[in-house]
Parts: sequence; C-alpha cells; structure tokens
Amino acid sequence: MAPSVLLSDKIESVCPDLLKKAGFSVTEKSGLSPEALAQEIGLYDGLVVRSATTVTREVLAAGKKGSLKIVGRAGAGLDNIDVAAAQELGIKVVNTPGLNANAVAELTVALAIVLSRKLWVAFSSIKEGRWEKKGLVGTELSGKVIGLVGLGYVGRLVAKKAKGLDMSVWAYDPFLKPEDIAKAGAEPKSLAEIWAGSDYISLHLPKTPDTLNLLSAETIAKLKKGAFVINCARGGLVDEKALHEALASGHLGGAALDVFDQEPPGASPLLALPNFVATPHVGASSLEAQLNVAEEVARLLVDFLGSKV
Ligand code: MLT
Repeated sequence: MAPSVLLSDKIESVCPDLLKKAGFSVTEKSGLSPEALAQEIGLYDGLVVRSATTVTREVLAAGKKGSLKIVGRAGAGLDNIDVAAAQELGIKVVNTPGLNANAVAELTVALAIVLSRKLWVAFSSIKEGRWEKKGLVGTELSGKVIGLVGLGYVGRLVAKKAKGLDMSVWAYDPFLKPEDIAKAGAEPKSLAEIWAGSDYISLHLPKTPDTLNLLSAETIAKLKKGAFVINCARGGLVDEKALHEALASGHLGGAALDVFDQEPPGASPLLALPNFVATPHVGASSLEAQLNVAEEVARLLVDFLGSKV
C-alpha cells in the first residue's frame, strides 16, 4: 500500500508534489489542535509539521497505535515535538537544520543594523511626516565586537557576514573545539568574555533546560553598558522581564527579538520600550528557505518510508 502522509502545517507545494511523485498519498490539514491531531494521526505513516503544530506525547502514542513511523519537521527547531517520547515509542523524528539558516543569519545582521542606526524610528517618523534627523545619529558595526553564543549553521553564517562588515567576531560554543571555532572565522571566547566584551550579543542556540533564560538578570548585568542583544533563535533563551528592566534602565542600548517566550507575545511590556524592536518569528521566512526545507523534508520522508511501507 502507498505510504500516507499528513501535512499538518502550511508548507510550500514542492513538499506534497514530491511526496505524490513518489507515489505517497498526501493529506493537507492545518490548524488541528493536539486533540484533533491525536484522533486521526494513527491513519498515517508520516507526519510533516512546521512550527505551528505541537506534536505531544499523546499525539505520538495515538500515532503509534496506528501506523505512524516518522515525523518530519520542515525547519530546525524541534521544541514543538516531544522528541523523547518519539524515541521511546520508536517513531523517527527528522528535521532540516541548515536549510533555512541563511535566512535567519540575514535577519540577524539586518536587526543589528536596524538597532545601530535606529532605523525603526527613521522608517516610522518619515512616514508620519517628520524629518527627524537629529535623534537619528547611530553607531556603525564596523570595528565593533559581535559575540555569538552558539556556532551552528546559523551562527557560522552570521560570523561570515559580520566579518564581511568588518566586525570582530567572538564565539562561544560548548560543543566545538577552539580550533573549530577559529576555522569558522571566529575568535573562541568563554561566555564570561563574550558577556563582558561584546558590543552585540547574538544567540544561536536551541531551547533546552540548559539554555533556558541564558540571558537572565544576572547575566544581563554582566553585559557591556550600551550593548545590543539580538535573539533570532528561540524564545525562552532571554528572560524577558530582566531584558525589559535592562532596556528601561539604559543598561542595554537596545534589543531585537524575533522570538518570544509566548508567541505571539500579546501585550508584552517590551513592545512599549523605545529601544526595543521585534519581528514575528520570521527568521526563516524567506522564499528560498521555505522551498529548501519543504523539499528536504519530503526527501527525508520518501527515503525513510519508501523502504518501510
Ligand atoms: C526553525 O526552527 O527552523 C525556525 O525557527 C523557523 C521555524 O520555526 O519554522
């Protein structure tokens, strides 16, 4: 029988097209609650998600009772999938790390420039009819230190782009040897050195129990006065209350978040601060990245299920 796959989030058509070309039967149904998903997941051999679907232990257990064998995440982050439960149940989980990394790295650099040149004020003031040059003297990236915490696919691309902008690139990654960090074009540093010496801190880590609130009141207090913080990785890496205090007191020069603890962030007090900018988790939202992840996740499912069903 042809393998069947449920696509439970909206995804570029290259994904269903490739699955169908391989002879799979494909069902596209987005917006299912975990309960609704649990009701029908057992009917499928594979499930493809982006970030909107939460794949809970209950969903996986219900899938296991039926024919579910693989969950494919079109993207890098796996925090919307209970990977431990999948492992226990013998359901394979695959993702597409690296394939949307350039989009995230470009947004990171864009946000660094937006923060340095107060571009959000420039954009809104001129549209509102003001010619507000005076308050818009910024600083340059050239010659400044960017401290990258995490030097995976995205971190490495940010390092390369930041070097192209004449920045000094420092990096900390507990999983890499200093020589590998140097090979990626960054100076290996301890976290303490990154906190104390960076003009820009950019986070490129997954959200795990170890990285939760990495930037807390305690660590933020160690950052250079006037430093800029950027997080295009995962919400929860920055304690948003502590960030608010540090921005409001002027300890930090500014911050840009593409990701939040709760998404959407609702009426987060951060949004009212003049030195805070945000984007709605659009790091990977480029046409190129979405095509890449959609194609790769289809390929991974075809490879796996093609030999299993
Ligand atoms: C990722 O994890 O790949 C990005 O954050 C984008 C997304 O959530 O899909």
